[in-house]
Amino acid sequence: MQRRGAGTLSTSDIGSRVLLKAWVRRRRDMGGLVFLDLRDRSGVAQVAVYPEAHPEVTRILFAARAEWVVEVEGEVVARESPNPQMATGAVELLPDRACILSRSDPPPFVPDAASDAGEDTRLRYRYLDLRREELQRNLALRSEATLAVRNFCQENGFLEIETPMLTRSTPEGARDYLVPSRVHRGSFYALPQSPQIFKQILMVSGFERYVQIVRCFRDEDLRADRQPEFTQIDLELSFVDEEDVIALVEGLFHRIFPLVGIEPPRVFPRLTYAEAMRRFGSDRPDLRFDLEIADLSQLLAESDFRAFSATVAGGGVIRGFAVPGAAAASRKQVDGWVQVARRFGAAGALTLRRRDGEIQFQVKGVLSEAQLSAAAAALGLEEGGLALIVAAPEATAAAALGALRLELAKAYDLIPEDEHAFVWVTEFPLFEWDEKSDRWHALHHPFTSPDPRDLELLDSAPGEVRSRAYDVVLNGMELGGGSIRIHQSEIQSRVFELLGIDAEEAEHRFGFLLQALRYGAPPHGGLALGLDRLIMMMVGADSIRDVIAFPKTASATCLMTEAPAVVDQAQVEELGLALLAEAPAPSAVESKEQD
Ligand code: AMO
Repeated sequence: MQRRGAGTLSTSDIGSRVLLKAWVRRRRDMGGLVFLDLRDRSGVAQVAVYPEAHPEVTRILFAARAEWVVEVEGEVVARESPNPQMATGAVELLPDRACILSRSDPPPFVPDAASDAGEDTRLRYRYLDLRREELQRNLALRSEATLAVRNFCQENGFLEIETPMLTRSTPEGARDYLVPSRVHRGSFYALPQSPQIFKQILMVSGFERYVQIVRCFRDEDLRADRQPEFTQIDLELSFVDEEDVIALVEGLFHRIFPLVGIEPPRVFPRLTYAEAMRRFGSDRPDLRFDLEIADLSQLLAESDFRAFSATVAGGGVIRGFAVPGAAAASRKQVDGWVQVARRFGAAGALTLRRRDGEIQFQVKGVLSEAQLSAAAAALGLEEGGLALIVAAPEATAAAALGALRLELAKAYDLIPEDEHAFVWVTEFPLFEWDEKSDRWHALHHPFTSPDPRDLELLDSAPGEVRSRAYDVVLNGMELGGGSIRIHQSEIQSRVFELLGIDAEEAEHRFGFLLQALRYGAPPHGGLALGLDRLIMMMVGADSIRDVIAFPKTASATCLMTEAPAVVDQAQVEELGLALLAEAPAPSAVESKEQD
């Protein structure tokens, strides 16, 4: 007899015989009568074991416990008291044959939504937690979406090509995971932070359209949306510009988001980096809510309030945003927001409230009536509202207000959870100045093409050069990023130079790429989407761990396998390595913010 999925039973099966092979999700002993909820990949069905019916079956199934694997066969009947909460709740199975396929030790937790087991326990027993319906659903969707991506790419002329895992460092801004070579003592492979260089070389080779669903490795600080190894949908195309890549990705999103009932807009809105930073204080703005930042610098530059006038005189800005209905915010709340602003380097944040027909600035007597009403008008501050104002250098003000914008949207419940706000952020700066190392850094990676309009600024004002990079953002999360690349080796060499990578070092690290670019490189560009993040957004998961079968903890360990692990001394020696007697603690995590 053919096995059926427990979750597929329905009233149309009443009267027929079925065979189930499944796990005991729950056992309820009603005194003489036992109900077993059996779970398999398709769902859950109830099996009712009446002692008088089949003594042998009763003996076997009465013994079954949670998470045992059983086989049962019998008739499907209508339930006396149907359970509308359960997909198969109208029917139950009356077994006349049963056997135990596998026993289980008493599980440390019951793998269902109601379980209050801590995350460490769940990760240690990941195989049990993965039995949870939510995780089963997430991984099934991941499989389905990945297939849809492959189909879409194939229909659009892409070839799936694998690139090496044992390779050299690709600069994406994080630390590398290194693999020592046994044969070449003292030499190391790097696991790829991305296949960036290889996919560009594939364009030089004439493949024209490349895709790879590929694991990438980055040793960086972890957050709810980051893992040390994660998967990219990595794309590269020849003879394209920004518009081609953007249209392609929008098409891909139109294919995959409907799998979960989300219909992205036909064309996504776009913001330049400069605009995103000015209006939303972030290069990955959450556009599900307003709280748009207004600039008050001109209005308040001449005010008697020194913190304002001095900031503007020193080249800084005064900016803020208004939150409707927040005029009654408590002292404690405001103190909390001031702390947020400070964390981002601002001196603090000041409030402007409008209540009882009056506009009140936190510092009394320093702003004229005209300045107060002009500021309120610019901020869109209405009766009952509160505005937060930050005066600081432009980048600091943007970062502080961007963080406050999110904080207040959450505090006042302004984020519509079921909306999906897609946006492209374009025209990123090519470089950013890094105070710590006192030199320019590539904001994306050093293969990103400068905007041809800004080429003459490369030497005179590198900080003002825009790039041909673009990111796609959903609800404040960066789903992917890419760019049109440099395809002329001279420009590539100049960019390396600006990044403080001299000719010798460039030759040493990326000589093969520079060389390849000299052998007929087509204009090309592409993008990589974070598959894990994409699935996270599709299923509405809070953590990236909920869409990865075997994720790592925040400290990059796998609790189930206990990786990373100490290895034999012999293995270390064979690799020509020696361990320091006492390993120094990792330097207080200082890796650059990656995205
Ligand atoms: P980038 O570094 O922006 O670009 O990475 C592309 C996308 O990969 C995802 N991502 C991550 N997901 C989970 N955990 C991480 N640690 C992590 N790091 C990145 C993000 C991100 O948008 N080579 C370029 C792409 C290109 O230019 O074509 C690159 O790797 O969703």
